[in-house]
Amino acid sequence: MSGNRYIKGFSKLSAAEKMEWLKSSFNIDNEYIQDLRSHLHTDSSFQKVYEEFSENTISNFFIPYGLAPNFLINNKWYVVPMAIEESSVVAAASHAAKFWSAHNGFQAEIINNIKVGQVHFHWSGSSEELKHFFKENKKLLLENLEDVTSSMRKRGGGIIDLELVDKTAELAEYYQLHVKFRTANAMGANFINTVLEKLGNTWKKLADESAAKNHITGSLEINMAILSNYTPENLVRVSVKTDIDSLEVFSEELSGLKFAEKFVRAVNIARNDTYRAVTHNKGIFNGMDGVVIATGNDFRAVEACGHAYAGKSGMYRSLSKAKIVNNHFYFELEIPMAVGTVGGLTSGHPLAKISMKILQEPNAEELMMIIAAAGLANNFSAVRSLITSGIQKGHMKMHLTNILRQLGASEAEKKKAIECFKDKTISYNAVKIFLNNQVT
Ligand code: MEV
Repeated sequence: MSGNRYIKGFSKLSAAEKMEWLKSSFNIDNEYIQDLRSHLHTDSSFQKVYEEFSENTISNFFIPYGLAPNFLINNKWYVVPMAIEESSVVAAASHAAKFWSAHNGFQAEIINNIKVGQVHFHWSGSSEELKHFFKENKKLLLENLEDVTSSMRKRGGGIIDLELVDKTAELAEYYQLHVKFRTANAMGANFINTVLEKLGNTWKKLADESAAKNHITGSLEINMAILSNYTPENLVRVSVKTDIDSLEVFSEELSGLKFAEKFVRAVNIARNDTYRAVTHNKGIFNGMDGVVIATGNDFRAVEACGHAYAGKSGMYRSLSKAKIVNNHFYFELEIPMAVGTVGGLTSGHPLAKISMKILQEPNAEELMMIIAAAGLANNFSAVRSLITSGIQKGHMKMHLTNILRQLGASEAEKKKAIECFKDKTISYNAVKIFLNNQVT
């Protein structure tokens, strides 16, 4: 019979006490508890840093940190750090980067760098009265925010627009203060949320004071104040271009032209079929997420934003586009993302700090271009495999390594298995049988 599975005051327990409770209440064997312990950092000062990122930490969850070399972006060389658990992603990024570095590299540009936040509120009066009240108070609202925006303004950012939005056609008595920001090299979430909460409080106070003096008839209630992770105007574009003949290296059967045509068709399928588009875009995020995580940025925010952008036409489509014009193959990715190179984990996580060094201390816009290039590189490699050898060939090699490790194969057995499965179908059972036969 296990111990008590409901617990009060769990957060107050030490890590050792938490593990003890876990062990006794959920019947977790000692060997697992030992494994959890052995994943703690041997340097307690690092461990303390990791523990402070989150709550109730009892161990660390490792994922590989690798390097994808040979990224030439706007004529500058990069080696790109990627933190990713999926096999083949770093290899795919590296292969594509190497190919494109011999063909002028990636061209990248920032289209805009505007972020968004909203104060969502309820107003019981007429739209006209509210519009008038907002117009009268807009300057005061902005002045009142000067203290919380001053340091960001010194860094070149701040509020760039404040608008009242009437959303009553969608939801009764629903309005927004829609705010646009620039946040310099920070992702800006904390800054934006601080500004918005103050804006919401001031807006409510002004409305209550005016209502008390009978200057307005409606009443105003703030529902919430929060940044939007949808930042379609925080946009980067990255592209590659080459003459189609140079693409013949990718297949023994296909000419450069045939390869390019098949590639463009595959991308167009992803632009016109949502089932394919989701997988196609997942391939883009394979590359992007690796860099986003390695640099301590918020991959959930980047993913949510990118997927919303993929659906901006009303249908979820491929984020990349490809075409052939005058014997040249063009491939590009346009994607919004909010990332930073200062603040938050970007400077707090020991490895994120090293990633920034490896990337030669980029600013936020440069980092956006690097991340987008990694996305396009992985997308190129995935589609290239899909239209030629198929995806399983490369994947299965890594899959075999994983199975061999799970089955506890020795180095000699691993070597033999890799040789044996060169031209055979890999499955867990087949590898297990192979290993059993080695033993007998
Ligand atoms: C696998 O992680 C990603 C791919 O499925 C992407 C794609 O299909 O384009 C290979």
